[in-house]
Amino acid sequence: MRDLHGRVINYLRISLTENCNLSCIYCRPDKCIEAKKDFMTKREVVSIVEAMAELGVKKVRFTGGEPLLRKDITEIISEVSKIDGIDDIALTTNGIFLAEKAKELKDAGLMRVNVSIDTLEKEKYRGLTGGNLDMVLEGIKRAEQEGLHPVKLNVVLMKSYNSEEIENFVKITVEKEMDVRFIELMPMGSSVRWIEKEYLSSQEVLNRCPRLQIVEKDYAASPSLLYKFPEGKGRVGIINTISNKFCDSCNRVRITPSGKLKLCLHSNKEIDLLGALRKDEDILELFRKNIPNKPEKHLLDKKHYNDKDMYKIGG
Ligand SMILES: C[S@@+](CC[C@H](N)C(=O)[O-])C[C@H]1O[C@@H](n2cnc3c(N)ncnc32)[C@H](O)[C@@H]1O
Repeated sequence: MRDLHGRVINYLRISLTENCNLSCIYCRPDKCIEAKKDFMTKREVVSIVEAMAELGVKKVRFTGGEPLLRKDITEIISEVSKIDGIDDIALTTNGIFLAEKAKELKDAGLMRVNVSIDTLEKEKYRGLTGGNLDMVLEGIKRAEQEGLHPVKLNVVLMKSYNSEEIENFVKITVEKEMDVRFIELMPMGSSVRWIEKEYLSSQEVLNRCPRLQIVEKDYAASPSLLYKFPEGKGRVGIINTISNKFCDSCNRVRITPSGKLKLCLHSNKEIDLLGALRKDEDILELFRKNIPNKPEKHLLDKKHYNDKDMYKIGG
């Protein structure tokens, strides 16, 4: 399906829960948030993907909150993998439960996994997230062993937390066939107050590692510019939402954990998809009516920020 700006929309991100087992300082800083009942049932998630597949969506990514907290995650993936037209199923996770789940996820039809890891230092990781870095590293290892290939590591750049670790992250790509992707901290919800102090342009990665050479993108709409050391097995991705907008090639829409359709990550506008589904309304029609109006571009430069933290939207 195309929007009014001619962009082909073929990528759906679904957030399966806003619950998370970590409290990253820029995303979910309040450690005492009560667990919420998951809003969308497995059947509802599958119905949404079926409708979007009819409209040309080929790729689905599950996210959260932490999607591996969903007890039915494996069944959801298994059912979505059987939908005609869906040829790529990926997951974004903090990796804590990945070691125990990687095999069943792969067997169910998961193809790829992105693991969020903002530091390689144990104590710093605990301070940033409240979690145990060893569990994440074990999860990454198991994901590789199970062939969830290529494992992509997502690193949100922060001046005072991990700018000194850029080289260490990039070094991983020399030995391992992994993508390490540096993401600029985006102003939304809680992170707005971190931006001034912590924002670091992803250009810093190229400044620190001048031997990186640009290579072809995986696909034209990918937000990630890719680089490689000549001797490297893996790649380095640069995602520069702020310093270099990629809205022109944005091919995605999102479903929030509460079942709202979101056409742009940085807009506050949400459309009540789950409400429509539960009222037995025609959701194909809802998509056809709304997707063409996907905003042309985000307005972060004009300080139009999303009020919600990423865990409530789905990163
Ligand atoms: C919200 S999490 C959800 C999935 C999963 N729990 C995880 O940790 O990957 C998805 C990604 O969003 C990123 N994120 C959250 N808030 C962000 C922000 N303000 N700017 C950039 N990335 C952000 C996280 O670092 C993480 O990589």
